[in-house]
Amino acid sequence: MSIDRVQARAAFERHFGFPPEVGARAPGRVNLIGEHTDYNHGFVLPMAIEQETLLLARRRPDRHVNAFAANLDRTTVAHLDHRMRNAAEPWIDYVIGVADELAKLEKPLTGVDLMIVGDVPIGCGLSSSASLEMAALVLFETLGGFEMPGAEAPKLGRRVENDFLGLSSGIMDQFISRMGKAGHALFLDCRSYEYELIPAAFPEAVFVIANTGVSRGLTSSKYNERVRECNEAVQRMNDRLSKSGTHLRDFSLAELDACADALPEIVLRRARHVITEDDRTRAACAALREGDTRALGELMNGSDASLREDYEVTCPQLDAMTDIARSLPGCFGARMTGAGFGGCTVNLVEKRHVDAFMRQLLVEYKRQTGFNGEVVASSPADGAGCVLV
Ligand code: GLA
Repeated sequence: MSIDRVQARAAFERHFGFPPEVGARAPGRVNLIGEHTDYNHGFVLPMAIEQETLLLARRRPDRHVNAFAANLDRTTVAHLDHRMRNAAEPWIDYVIGVADELAKLEKPLTGVDLMIVGDVPIGCGLSSSASLEMAALVLFETLGGFEMPGAEAPKLGRRVENDFLGLSSGIMDQFISRMGKAGHALFLDCRSYEYELIPAAFPEAVFVIANTGVSRGLTSSKYNERVRECNEAVQRMNDRLSKSGTHLRDFSLAELDACADALPEIVLRRARHVITEDDRTRAACAALREGDTRALGELMNGSDASLREDYEVTCPQLDAMTDIARSLPGCFGARMTGAGFGGCTVNLVEKRHVDAFMRQLLVEYKRQTGFNGEVVASSPADGAGCVLV
């Protein structure tokens, strides 16, 4: 569900004592398939979700960002000319990180009284942070009277993560949050940034997102470790094959097999996940275009097995939730989604079974793990934009 604009505006007025002047929003996302492929220059197939981050603001005559995080009931003041991280109020880092990248490009920045409100669950693999970055970008664009063209906007968001926040993540989350389209999934080539919007609706099936209720622990250190392992695979395969590939995208499964004895066993498995996941993602794209729910479900299951066994980014709760899903009537496929180590699953489920599926999934998950899971209902939504206030 998107956020109630009237209530948000009233909350802004209550907090600041005057109405907002501009508004910007950006959605979270769920990735249907193509996991941990983006920073390897591979393929991804996410869709934007209805859950979003909404920013309301009014210009200030000075260079301050006087910010109120409504969900957290926290406030802080940052300065557009002294852009640094704030360990006490880390939520503002995403806004100041965007300002920092814009300042490097010499774009005009405007001080604001700012309210942030969102309904993307935080730390659940649905990209609440990318949605805040992309909403902040739209806000600064609107106030500054400029627009970042095409892939420049998500690339800027990625730099915020990589340079300001220290997470070696790829481009997927910001790309879909900016470019998503209602009713569609987005097939993206993370090397060329070419993309295709594909209708994501089936006559007989729907995607169901389920949250394990386990928030991702140690994600950034484990995530950066995977990025390093992939880079190591590239180095070693280049040496063995006398190639000059830059990313795992540059290698085939046959080449990986030929290098098997030159790679540590863990590195071999990491590379195998990425290379096979790219193949699955291209096949999933074709299945989605053709409306082939069975083929898509099988590919989702294959992706999950590879993330579990080769890439090792699942956790017992994610595994329980996907195993239970697959045992229920009407489930074509189930997989973890996002960075992993907790967070959400995405399931493709026959419409006539969907109510029972959701009910039984949560009951059985609670019984097996003791955790309270949750279904996150969403159709594919639009990417970032201005909001009338
Ligand atoms: C996180 C990152 C993305 C992507 C996924 C895994 O969401 O931000 O760039 O790597 O993990 O597919």
